[in-house]
Amino acid sequence: MDTIVEARDLAKHYGDVITVKGVSFEIKRGEIFSLLGPNGAGKTTTISMLSTLYTPTRGDAIIAGHSVAREPMAVRRIIGVVPQELALYEDLAARENLASGGKCTAYPGAL
Ligand SMILES: Nc1ncnc2c1ncn2[C@@H]1O[C@H](COP(=O)(O)OP(=O)(O)O)[C@@H](O)[C@H]1O
Ligand SMILES: [Mg+2]
Repeated sequence: MDTIVEARDLAKHYGDVITVKGVSFEIKRGEIFSLLGPNGAGKTTTISMLSTLYTPTRGDAIIAGHSVAREPMAVRRIIGVVPQELALYEDLAARENLASGGKCTAYPGAL
């Protein structure tokens, strides 16, 4: 079975605060994979690195052959993220919500 996501020693530090120490795992194409852990374990930070919202301090993840650290825009073109909470502005139309989300990027100027 193909590997679609491979996390390699992914780590995120904020100064001296280590939020993700270095996590490695593989997800196969078609597999349903869960990250489980208590509050503060680093699940959201890990997902944020996989979805290119946060740049890893160390390590990398390869998603369908693209590096989140070196090719974040290529990763963004092929992934979808469904947030935990409803993240829509009720005052905006559906198209305006999509445009707003699409412009929220850690790489200003890339769009
Ligand atoms: N921007 C940040 N700056 C400093 N610490 C952070 C930041 N974001 C998250 N943390 C800390 O990182 C740890 C992991 O958080 P998080 O990834 O949200 O965990 P989880 O989603 O598993 O509850 C927590 O201790 C949290 O307080
Ligand atoms: Mg969380």
